Amino acid sequence: MIRLVHFSDIHISSALADWRRGDWFSKRVTSWMNHRLLGRARRFALADEIVTRLMDELLRRGVDHLVFSGDATALGFESELRRATEVLRVGQYPIPGMAVPGNHDYCTQSAAASGSFERHFAPWQEGQRIGEHRYPFAQQVGPAWLVGVNAATGNRWPWDASGRIGAAQLERLRQLLDKLPAGLRILVVHYPLRLKSGRREFESHGLRDLNALVTIAQAGGVKLWLHGHRHTPYHLQQSGSVALPAICAGTATQHGIWSYGEYVIEGEKLQAVRWNYDPQGRSFRSVEEFTLHLG
Ligand SMILES: [Fe+2]
Ligand SMILES: [Fe+2]
Repeated sequence: MIRLVHFSDIHISSALADWRRGDWFSKRVTSWMNHRLLGRARRFALADEIVTRLMDELLRRGVDHLVFSGDATALGFESELRRATEVLRVGQYPIPGMAVPGNHDYCTQSAAASGSFERHFAPWQEGQRIGEHRYPFAQQVGPAWLVGVNAATGNRWPWDASGRIGAAQLERLRQLLDKLPAGLRILVVHYPLRLKSGRREFESHGLRDLNALVTIAQAGGVKLWLHGHRHTPYHLQQSGSVALPAICAGTATQHGIWSYGEYVIEGEKLQAVRWNYDPQGRSFRSVEEFTLHLG
């Protein structure tokens, strides 16, 4: 039996101090307008406090492993990554963690190329990999394997929130799944397998090489897909167009829909509890339970 806690899309933001000249000619301007003018900053105003309380609570709960499926930041700034990993206590927390980046963490092409996410989250990216390549990587949790994939790409255009794994990383994923010892394989990636409706994400908001990832995941024995990106949580049992059981963690910190999932996996059965933040009590309360079969 293993007990995982899965949370995502905490979107920690930073002051304007980090802005460099080049940022004013990049996608950061429209991302910033979205963040400030369209109310995103207000919706995430309690993000630091909620993450701090979450980490306090989990210490008392007896969890084996944390899974963070991306979008640690609002605009992918170094200072935001520093703050996010401070409040998450990455490197100091006694429970091991896995982290993969989201599209906001790679807000611009230079943020993607900087390696900031990987530097700050290094303790949550330890594991088995192919050669020196950062992604994918695998962490053992009891008899199971968490396999983290990077789908964030540093998109150029403001309307583009899509992701891509790329042929080279897909090939390494195939090799990694092949070489891992037996055990349940759980894929961790920022992007959804399917929307709540069972339909595919829009092209500009989804994973461009989704089909190739699904094919490799299935061939490599993956039985569960954990993701974020969508801020409202949901889960899907395998059926029809849904190739694998999947769980969207939603956002842990956005006003009103702040939640995370706790999963107990025993054999082929996953029992989940969803915890919602209660701003009055300043703690999380269980609000939903569900079961998935990882056949
Ligand atoms: Fe997000
Ligand atoms: Fe996202």
